[in-house]
Amino acid sequence: MRILAVHSSRFGHTANIVASTAHRLREHGHDVDVRPIGAIRAWDDTAQAVLVAASVRYGVYSPRIVSFTRRNAERLARVPSAFIGVNLSAIDADKATPQTNRYTKRFLASTPWRPDLVQLFGGELNFPLYNPLDTALLKPILATTGRPWGPDVRVDYTDWEEVDAFADRFADYAASRRAED
Ligand SMILES: Cc1cc2nc3c(=O)[nH]c(=O)nc-3n(C[C@H](O)[C@H](O)[C@H](O)COP(=O)(O)O)c2cc1C
Repeated sequence: MRILAVHSSRFGHTANIVASTAHRLREHGHDVDVRPIGAIRAWDDTAQAVLVAASVRYGVYSPRIVSFTRRNAERLARVPSAFIGVNLSAIDADKATPQTNRYTKRFLASTPWRPDLVQLFGGELNFPLYNPLDTALLKPILATTGRPWGPDVRVDYTDWEEVDAFADRFADYAASRRAED
């Protein structure tokens, strides 16, 4: 099956999660095309399943991702589709579901798209990549949640085994939908 994987990734972490998911989906025999959202100009008619992934920055997922899902909601409904959301809130188990992760709840309420699968992952902190403004703005935000802050801080909060498990679930789901068609 040909799977289009579209992502919005400011610092590359969501892109890494998508790359890992794509690798696993290929092991299931799928043909996966990974593209940044900025490269998508029109709907790809050859896509038989679609994965959309985005990270949260200052409280929101990328507006480009929101508009892609709004514009293509009807087409997305015709193929198996999944959403991967990446943010720091999702590190906490009680904020890691579409119902309890406020960014994801808000995103899903803002688009007619109803992904078949929704998966949240904790993101990373990687201060060597951030500019001085982001570094300064993150200080009070991280202080309220007790996360580390500082120019040398690099922490990966993603459960990479769960990334593989999610890819397996999406592959199974896509195959079962295909069997029904
Ligand atoms: C400038 C900045 C703002 C962020 N804002 C939020 C936020 O409001 N809520 C949250 O849970 N995580 C927030 N994060 C965490 C990101 O979602 C996390 O670092 C993620 O791994 C970034 O993925 P990306 O590299 O694909 O953009 C922020 C990170 C940065 C660097």
